[in-house]
Amino acid sequence: MFATISLVKLPQSRLASNFGASSQPSFRERFREQLRLARKDYPVIFPALLVASVASVSLLSLLIYDYYTRVAPQYAAYPPLVEQALRMGLQHVYVTPDPEKAEMHLTHALKMAHESGMDPYSPEVIGIRTRLAEMLEKFGRAKGAIEVLDGTINMCEEKVADIDRGVTSQDPEQTKSLRSGMLRTILRCRAKVASLYEGEYMRNTTKAKEVLSDAIGLLVKETQNPQTKGFSEDNAAGLPLDEIASMLSQMGDLYATTGEESNAVQVYMLTLAPLRQACNGNRSCKEVQVLSNIASTMDIAMKKPGATINGQPANKENLAAARKAILAWADQAIKTAEVVKPEDRDGICDLGLISAEMTKADLLLEDGKTIQAREAFRSIIPKLREKGFESLVRSAEQGIQRAGG
Ligand SMILES: *[C@@H]1O[C@H](CO)[C@@H](O)[C@H](O)[C@H]1NC(C)=O
Ligand SMILES: *[C@@H]1O[C@H](CO)[C@@H](O)[C@H](O)[C@H]1NC(C)=O
Repeated sequence: MFATISLVKLPQSRLASNFGASSQPSFRERFREQLRLARKDYPVIFPALLVASVASVSLLSLLIYDYYTRVAPQYAAYPPLVEQALRMGLQHVYVTPDPEKAEMHLTHALKMAHESGMDPYSPEVIGIRTRLAEMLEKFGRAKGAIEVLDGTINMCEEKVADIDRGVTSQDPEQTKSLRSGMLRTILRCRAKVASLYEGEYMRNTTKAKEVLSDAIGLLVKETQNPQTKGFSEDNAAGLPLDEIASMLSQMGDLYATTGEESNAVQVYMLTLAPLRQACNGNRSCKEVQVLSNIASTMDIAMKKPGATINGQPANKENLAAARKAILAWADQAIKTAEVVKPEDRDGICDLGLISAEMTKADLLLEDGKTIQAREAFRSIIPKLREKGFESLVRSAEQGIQRAGG
């Protein structure tokens, strides 16, 4: 288990691809490119390769939820000057949007909090920082948002370091809870920073991978017996399983979209256990998506020039075996989609299913099963139309043509 987890931090040279065989940069490559375009065009409704970004979109709200909702009684505990500035700031975020004024008031709220002697590590003050980052992101100032979050991360890291050095004035129980809260904040902020780096304003996936890899490294470090137990709720950050799964799959997506398919597949596989546990054994749309991602990422890897399958150069036999294995993952995604309870179904299920069916059709075609492949592509087209993915419709039509139809 641990060997796989630590792969996240290995240098690229060690990360030989397990799958892959050369073929023309054909349908699959185009499909992948179209997925990318679709992701760009439909950032919210097209998370087919992106379970985690769905979660990270609301990550800041989650931080705020943690601070404002769960500790609601303390919300009123802001000194009047801080509360006034906060109110003004939020008014210029939501009511009469004005980035300059919003930033001014929120920064002022932080300053007032400092001057009135509020504890900078308290949920309330960290909550103001989160609001500030959220506001900057909302107005497209990703760089500023990252700076605010990085500042928060540094602050929390220093606090953790102090605690670990024994510098603390609180009782052990309070100290433990403070440390846990600091760790959670660091992890959530890093996940958010990673998604900001990945996003349209920064477009730096290298940095995004670094930041998220650090977060996962920290989580591993703070998890009890990761070698034998994998990721669990038994982590000092008290990070819940669904967030762990979300963070892992965000990492998988980053690898998948930057051509590190082998890593992506391994991290997606690590995602399954915490994801299933988080759902108490219920099948979920996110599981459909992760399974579908495993299949599509393996399929992409298998077709990369010069790649190997389980350490061996690709040949007819091991390619056939690999296709069979990938088909099994795609089928698992499709079966899972069928048993998700109707009330739990959402767009992610539909997209995960479409993606799994496309992968399956492609594999059937590669396997020379042209009749089944044609059938498969034909049955996907109406669903693609319904979703408005015209470019993918063209891919499916090309698939039918290649299958001799
Ligand atoms: C992305 O971040 C890395 C640091 O991790 C940096 O070296 C690189 O220059 C950045 N790339 C761009 C395009 O800003
Ligand atoms: C799983 O399904 C059961 C029965 O429908 C439901 O009561 C429970 O809340 C579900 N658990 C989760 C985590 O969704």
